[in-house]
Amino acid sequence: MALTDNKYGHESVLIGPVENYLNLENGDVAIDCTLGLGGHSEMFLDHIGSKGKLIAFEQDESNLKIAEKRLSKNKNKIIFIPRNFVHLQQEIEDRKISGVKLVFMDLGLASTQVDASDRGFSFLKDGPLDMRFDKRSPITAKEVLERCSEKRLVEIFREYGEERYSKKFARIIKENLPINTTKELADLIQKYSHTPPNHRGKKIHPATRIFQALRIEVNNELEVLQDTLNQAIKVLAPGGRLIVISYHSLEDRIVKHTMKDSTRDCICPREVLICNCNHSPELKILTKKPIVPTEEEIGMNPRSRSAKMRIAEKL
Ligand SMILES: C[S@@+](CC[C@H](N)C(=O)[O-])C[C@H]1O[C@@H](n2cnc3c(N)ncnc32)[C@H](O)[C@@H]1O
Repeated sequence: MALTDNKYGHESVLIGPVENYLNLENGDVAIDCTLGLGGHSEMFLDHIGSKGKLIAFEQDESNLKIAEKRLSKNKNKIIFIPRNFVHLQQEIEDRKISGVKLVFMDLGLASTQVDASDRGFSFLKDGPLDMRFDKRSPITAKEVLERCSEKRLVEIFREYGEERYSKKFARIIKENLPINTTKELADLIQKYSHTPPNHRGKKIHPATRIFQALRIEVNNELEVLQDTLNQAIKVLAPGGRLIVISYHSLEDRIVKHTMKDSTRDCICPREVLICNCNHSPELKILTKKPIVPTEEEIGMNPRSRSAKMRIAEKL
């Protein structure tokens, strides 16, 4: 088993269970949609042998640089793509790549991003309210707060943060603009929240849901995920596997339903009496329930605690 270590600033999650589900052979093509610091990719490279090819997407320039260095001895086997993984199918088709045996996604943030205060992802670190994975993308979290109407903010907090007090927080935020930093936003939410922050107990910090919602909006994460899962199913060769690790219920729901829908032979709406969808099953689900980290892994890497891994195989 390839060992990861956090000298690169990020501990790879569920590395043993991922490896147990790989069915890669020498010469295979594998796609890592979320290269991050290259921990999982390092393992895939071991499995695809000297003749294999790894296609690695990463939209964060600084993580990509670290991963490129880490994997440099295998650089002839890797195509690094410094873009959003939503371009998966186009990039694969443009390069006339076929026979893809793995599409892997380890969603969300790398620890390097959470820990860097200047990226603005964490309410525990003070920094500019940014939250862009890709610094080339146009809109920061600060701009979302300024440009979106109060009504739209309510929707964002409700849909992407499942925040009960969306209306209240949207109003308070609008009344207190400009909000320039993560600390200003976290303090404001906390001031008007009934839930005292308690990092040792079960209660989550009151700003958690608002930060999650803003990050999803800034990076258009759910739409991109849905779109890319559909593409992944198309590019996989028969017998190829789709492995997805997600970190919150909104992502997991999309992964679960997409996989499930792809096992069906009919996806017509319920009210349609005679099937006219011409759908045929494309996947077989290999994990009836999601695989989660052991207590031991969570003890060693608390950031793995919300991980859920689902795996399906292309028919
Ligand atoms: C959890 S980390 C991956 C860690 C990696 N598996 C490892 O072992 O080092 C997720 C990475 O995916 C990247 N990422 C997230 N969404 C992306 C997207 N839509 N396109 C490309 N990269 C993305 C993030 O920038 C981050 O570096």
